[in-house]
Amino acid sequence: MPAIPEFILRKLYVPGSLKASPDGFELQLNNTLAAVTLTGLGLTADEQPCDPQSILLRLPSGQEISAAAVSGDQPFSMTVNTLIGVQVRAPMPRKRLVVRAETREAGTLQFSLPLAGGRPGEKGQSGLLGNLRRKLQSARRAWRTRRDPQHPAYHFTPPANWMNDPNGLICWRGTYHMFYQYNPYDAVWGNIHWGHASSPDLLHWRHHPIALSPDPDGADAGGCFSGCAVDDGGRATLIYTGVFPETQCLARSTGNDLLTWKKHPRPVIPAPPEGLALEGFRDPCVWKEGPAWRMALGSGLRGQGGAVLLYGSQNLTEWQYLGILYQKDPQPTKAVPTGTMWECPSFFPLGEKWVLLLSVCATEGPMTTIYYVGDYHANRFIPQGPARRLDHGAGGCFYAPQTFLSAGGERLMIGWLREARSQDEMQRAGWSGAMSLPRRLSLDKDGGLTCAPLAETARLRREDRQPSSRPSAQMEILAQVQPDAAPWSGVYLEAGPGEAVQIGFDRQQGAVVVDCRPAGGLLSTLPLEKNVEQLDLHLFVDGSVLEVFVDDRQAISARFYVKQPQALRTQWVGDVRASVWNVQKQV
Ligand code: FRU
Repeated sequence: MPAIPEFILRKLYVPGSLKASPDGFELQLNNTLAAVTLTGLGLTADEQPCDPQSILLRLPSGQEISAAAVSGDQPFSMTVNTLIGVQVRAPMPRKRLVVRAETREAGTLQFSLPLAGGRPGEKGQSGLLGNLRRKLQSARRAWRTRRDPQHPAYHFTPPANWMNDPNGLICWRGTYHMFYQYNPYDAVWGNIHWGHASSPDLLHWRHHPIALSPDPDGADAGGCFSGCAVDDGGRATLIYTGVFPETQCLARSTGNDLLTWKKHPRPVIPAPPEGLALEGFRDPCVWKEGPAWRMALGSGLRGQGGAVLLYGSQNLTEWQYLGILYQKDPQPTKAVPTGTMWECPSFFPLGEKWVLLLSVCATEGPMTTIYYVGDYHANRFIPQGPARRLDHGAGGCFYAPQTFLSAGGERLMIGWLREARSQDEMQRAGWSGAMSLPRRLSLDKDGGLTCAPLAETARLRREDRQPSSRPSAQMEILAQVQPDAAPWSGVYLEAGPGEAVQIGFDRQQGAVVVDCRPAGGLLSTLPLEKNVEQLDLHLFVDGSVLEVFVDDRQAISARFYVKQPQALRTQWVGDVRASVWNVQKQV
């Protein structure tokens, strides 16, 4: 079973809950992922394993269980959205706390909370000095990030630190705004704020101050999770998930530059609907339907799988539950796992159809993005076929995408390109995560969703416009491949001995293959459904980011880590005609 990424597991920890107690320390865990049966729980504080006898679990009912009493014979059922207090009689860790849970369903789940520079989920030292220290640290990290050749130059990232999902994508008065899940204090997930940038063309971005910060006394004290932006009669409005518990919150802009926001005093949806055993209740996607608003919300039905809840409202502040918009198809195909819970739904009309994009969260199986195309009637979505993969990159590299309308009314999508390296490496680098280039969506005649880069992306090519053979970390490559000419035809990107990425068509597998394994990344495979006479591969290489578009229809996103990406050279294998451009720094 593939490991669950650590940043997901870290969501089990309630931010800011780790505190010294009279006889040791305490913290809180909240399982927001999926119900699991715990057969053991261990803690390691500053590399010292804590004695299980010294760990006490406190349930909301007041019941107390010693970690030493939890075993395969006496398991402990960790249901969803139950706050568990953990009290430990051991010295408060100063550098690192590792939480290790043995579970029946998902094996060993282990995550660490790095504590250096403040407790996880807290801003650390408060006051003027603390602020100054954090600003200095961030400036230092941004300085290092700018000089890091693995850092992308024309894919959007914040100046430093951690970023995940794109949020609130909107074209507002002719300017594109992108918000994003952002930890301003570290290069790992936690302390989630909404970062903000804007762009005239989706290619050149300008950074802005943080748009939303957790309010210690508010419903979003534990973080401002993902959400969307809408135009409410001329006023930009953000609807997002506040945690913990998960509630839906709202903020309205106080100006047209979207730089300042006023939060609604209370959550607009304070709790999940009664009577449903849900796993997750987050990531609102809101749209206008006639005079009314509709919201699709990511969730899962315990023991059944992913579900999207539908809500309705007249004014964005009072919402009514309208039922389940769509829940996991009863017979999902093995090739496209649909997981236990769906994050970040994006639901929108395209041509005559409706499309549902989902980010699959699972305690078992890979994290991926999937889509359904179908019809939407009477508050229900009826897909016309099974789930399909939205992006074919391994390891869920492309995740949590959002869609929005361009100024010209085209449906565009941007997703988060997750790192394929460890937390320690991300912290050493001082940054983590990049956005994909914007992708234009359309439907093909077989009801498949196709995605292609914007034609305008060609403006990023360097002015010489000469197909280039100079080594570079930033390249755009157009390769026409004759699939039948050789067992393997494609492109090698080589940075040094043994450090290479291979992108091409494998005749035996009948698949496009992106192999980043010799460069610290993963192997992605996209089997082609039909025999083709020619394949157009459109590659965007950027430091450690690789986006591959196949025939301007399907995408493979990948990350790779070579020591000197600026030394990347291209080589062609098999029957390939290619053009290469160096691409300029834009962000
Ligand atoms: C997806 C996600 C969302 C959540 C956000 C928190 O990557 O897990 O479900 O709102 O990230 O950062």
